[in-house]
Amino acid sequence: MRVHVLGAGIVGLACAVELVERGHDVTVVDRAPGSGASHAAAGMLSPAGEAWHGESALHALAVASAGLWSPYAAGLGVPLHDSGTLLVGIDAGDRQEVERQAELLATHGEQVEVLDGRAARALEPSLGRVTAAAVLAHDRAVDPRAVVAALLAALGPRVVAQRPIVGPDATVIATGARLPAPYAHLVRGVRGEILRLRGDVGLTRVLRGWVRGEPVYLVPRADGELVVGATSEEHDGPPVVTAGGVRRLLDAATELVPGLDRAELCEALARDRPGTPDNRPLVGPTGDDGIFLAAGHFRHGVLLAPLTARLLADAVEGAAPDPLLDPRRFSLLEDRC
Ligand code: GLY
Repeated sequence: MRVHVLGAGIVGLACAVELVERGHDVTVVDRAPGSGASHAAAGMLSPAGEAWHGESALHALAVASAGLWSPYAAGLGVPLHDSGTLLVGIDAGDRQEVERQAELLATHGEQVEVLDGRAARALEPSLGRVTAAAVLAHDRAVDPRAVVAALLAALGPRVVAQRPIVGPDATVIATGARLPAPYAHLVRGVRGEILRLRGDVGLTRVLRGWVRGEPVYLVPRADGELVVGATSEEHDGPPVVTAGGVRRLLDAATELVPGLDRAELCEALARDRPGTPDNRPLVGPTGDDGIFLAAGHFRHGVLLAPLTARLLADAVEGAAPDPLLDPRRFSLLEDRC
């Protein structure tokens, strides 16, 4: 089949590579490949850390996609950060958050022990005055920019700025938080601001947690980069970096890891996460002839990219979509009237 993929973020590119590997004639269309949410993403492969109450279906998908990541990253030649994740809290309220997450994970059959601050610092000596921690041994991370670069290299001249004149048999819309009509209403932008720092603070694990109620995460990379994220704000305006967002992230991150105070602040940027009404992605047919969606991945675009690629390619080849992800679950036709 001749397939056009609109959008060269990690999801669109992963879908395109999967379709190419299945023998389809694929063109990816994007004027600025890899410059959307994938460019901001920290790359946590974190089904446990990002499990939410009431989202057990999404958690199951996250676990399934996390299981694909080792061979997927190896195939792309991109390393995985697999030293695990530490969930941490500073004050009594934060400790409760850590305990609540451990209880939630227990409902998914994952037993997580809550440690005190001393035990946490024995694991990560760079930590500040945390009072609670839990080891999420299976939550990993990957550098999304490295993944995007590898996917773009695999696709080569198939990635173009303008849609080809010859029409496709199938079109895959993978434009993140900005879907074209008539699908635009299916996603909302949820702004996330994120920082990149550089310095040797001696952090080995990914940290996620709460600092006096402020959620924050720190993702260390092997080359000394530290990604600090992320704010979360529902809004209609352009995704700009705000002074308050940067201040809150830096306050929280330096309280968790005081040595960060000496790190170089290299980059601050903001992008919109593509949230759907039920926070589950849209993967499959739209109901319009030959038009498919691979969008709405909200906080999980990187984690869910390998699974999405498979499911989307299956759908393009005629398989029935997973009802949990079927874009038609929001009654597209009704909404259009
Ligand atoms: N998955 C990380 C975030 O949404 O900030």
